Amino acid sequence: MLKKFINNNIEKRIKELKKKRNAIILAHNYQLPEVQDLADYLGDSLELSRKASLTSASVIVFCGVYFMAETASILCPDKKIIMPDVSAGCPMANMITAADIRKLRKEHPRAVVVGYVNTPAEVKAELDICCTSSNAVAVVNSLKDKEEIIFVPDKYLADYVSKKTGRRLISWNGFCPTHIKILPEDIKREKQFHPAAKVVVHPECLPSVLALADEVLSTSKMCQYAKETDAREIIVGTEVGLIYRLKQDNPTKEFYPAAERAVCPNMKRTTEEKILWSLEELKEEVRVPDDIRRRAINAINKMLEII
Ligand code: 13P
Ligand code: SF4
Repeated sequence: MLKKFINNNIEKRIKELKKKRNAIILAHNYQLPEVQDLADYLGDSLELSRKASLTSASVIVFCGVYFMAETASILCPDKKIIMPDVSAGCPMANMITAADIRKLRKEHPRAVVVGYVNTPAEVKAELDICCTSSNAVAVVNSLKDKEEIIFVPDKYLADYVSKKTGRRLISWNGFCPTHIKILPEDIKREKQFHPAAKVVVHPECLPSVLALADEVLSTSKMCQYAKETDAREIIVGTEVGLIYRLKQDNPTKEFYPAAERAVCPNMKRTTEEKILWSLEELKEEVRVPDDIRRRAINAINKMLEII
């Protein structure tokens, strides 16, 4: 009862501050339920980048991980991008550096470099084109005239894209520590419990998990699939935070997480209280330095052109 009263007050104050600051709240599909409820817009990496680039708000409160807020800063240098918890990073994004890309280019001078959006801004400044899990296959298909393609940092996404496009990709040894926790035996077990269920998984999962799936999709494409499919039950192979949104959007359907252990601790750092404090103090600001921004924006704009 007391918690509800406090939360109502927090939500009321957040609403007032959003108006006063001309702010919007963008939240990734993995955020905590209470954060998802507060968001003006929920989405996957590609949708959140698009939304950031189109908003007329002066302040964007980014509830996600650091590379997402950096991407918004690159796209909107005239806006203030703030994170309620700036320590929310993406371990996969930090598995590659700008120096690594320069070295790869030296080793493969004729290659075009595709980088997953899960990378730091300094890395994006070295890329030819970015992609997200939603458009990675289309991005590689758009490079038909290129002889060699480097694809970083996620080796499992690279493997999936390579299989889908028939292109040999020069990959990196990066991976998502959360998605690799989903194992083939998890999918097999859930299928035994729910034989009528469809299986959707994220392309950051292990190839042995992808092999058992009906569909391999980004988080928002999973939401779209859940709405459109005739299936009443879906086994979901991604970070568990997505289940809340899927249930909200489809109250008559059943969703089963493939593995409860697939939790991204960084995605859970943002809370209602921290959103309130960030709007009160307009902190912590995420701002990409101009020289890096100028070099990174081309790769991001090219990504936004490809559906
Ligand atoms: P999506 O773009 O599919 O939302 O994925 C982002 C991410 O970080 C997955 O772990
Ligand atoms: Fe990064 Fe994986 Fe977390 Fe996504 S789920 S933000 S890829 S660590």
